[in-house]
Amino acid sequence: MKKYIIVGGNKLFGSVNVPCSKNAYLPILAGCILCDEEIILKDCPNFEDIKSMCDILKELGASVIKQGTTLCVNCKNITNHTIPHNLSGKIRSSIFSLGAILSRLKRAIIAYPGGCDIGSRPIDLHIKGLEAMGVKIQDKHGFLNCDGCNLAGGTINLDFPSVGATENIILAGILAKGETKIINCAKEPEIVDLANFLNKMGANICGEGTSTITIQGVKKLHGIEYTPISDRIITGTYAIATAICGGKVELNNANQEHIHALISKINNNCCKVEIKNNKILVTQERRPKSFQKLETMPYPGFPTDLQSQIVTLASISKGTSIITENLFETRFKHVPELVKMGANIVVKGKTAVVAGVSQLYGAEVNTSDLRGGAALVLAGLGANGYTTVNGIEIIDRGYENFEQTLTSLGADIKRVEQN
Ligand code: UD1
Repeated sequence: MKKYIIVGGNKLFGSVNVPCSKNAYLPILAGCILCDEEIILKDCPNFEDIKSMCDILKELGASVIKQGTTLCVNCKNITNHTIPHNLSGKIRSSIFSLGAILSRLKRAIIAYPGGCDIGSRPIDLHIKGLEAMGVKIQDKHGFLNCDGCNLAGGTINLDFPSVGATENIILAGILAKGETKIINCAKEPEIVDLANFLNKMGANICGEGTSTITIQGVKKLHGIEYTPISDRIITGTYAIATAICGGKVELNNANQEHIHALISKINNNCCKVEIKNNKILVTQERRPKSFQKLETMPYPGFPTDLQSQIVTLASISKGTSIITENLFETRFKHVPELVKMGANIVVKGKTAVVAGVSQLYGAEVNTSDLRGGAALVLAGLGANGYTTVNGIEIIDRGYENFEQTLTSLGADIKRVEQN
């Protein structure tokens, strides 16, 4: 069991270099499967989920070598098309590799994906999309057994703009014969980054960032060097940390456009947010006013991956906020833990009514999912007294050097590992 011990109350001052995005890196790694030449990926962060995706590539027969922060991926010798449960069950993104394996090897067997426990997380849209491209899928005993011998382009109208399904279908369409059109696709920056990466390798994708993406199949991709975009959720997490704790923090390698939905909530509310090229300077000016009505939405709406953190901020704001989670049905698991710290929050269905209190107090709390865990750390940093956050292995999946970075900003946070 690993835990954080936090002594709350310190203001944060200094700068943070935001790493590359986990959610951009993961589908890009899956995209490497499509190419039989070496691909160099720069600035690879130390997230557990990225290590898990590299293990999946190695299981398929790829060579993945990390030299410093550079990842050299060579999928020339990929022959295995099976991802067993022990690897697939670790991360949700294992499902993205399905489209890529089918596109390259025309066969795939993959155990059901894992990932954060934030809702039922079905994969019906992935399956329907691949079936519309001629893939025959048998869903038995926790495995998807896929025959892609007849894989070809097709038109897929997604019932919901799922990020993962959009990425999976893009990857399936790259080496497939003909045109693949995805209507009502996701528009997240990570989708645009995946398309930029694949196009640089010789793919033919148009419309990324809009609600219709078209892919013309190509015969072959070539090796490249690429640096994925910066992590908008980590950017947002440190911005919210500053709003909660007070202080002044400069976020380097940050893209303000990607977190505009958050900036518009905190700027002139509790913080002054200044933007200069790829730097965002967040200065806390006062206690936040409540957010009144805030709903999570697909991009460019307010990201579900910042909902937990904004609930922590709302819990110490002046007034009552009504926060609705529209994407994942059990994504308020951090709320009972915040209540242990003195927050006044009632959850009814997909809505949390957060009546702000002037201060939280320290308590022992448990992490249930990645962003919920980060939200508890932020609560502890702003609270009065000691907070213990248990189960921080989950936070390691998407934050690297979290405690070192926070300590460098002036926080009092220590990692404790018990056998
Ligand atoms: C990705 C992100 C995750 C983020 C989410 C929404 C990665 C690795 N993860 O997850 O951090 O929270 O986008 O921005 O990039 N759905 C279905 N059927 C499907 C697929 C999805 O009903 O086949 C539903 C989901 O239950 C959910 C909604 O669609 O309600 C959005 O899910 P989706 O966009 O697919 O999220 P992920 O790709 O899993």
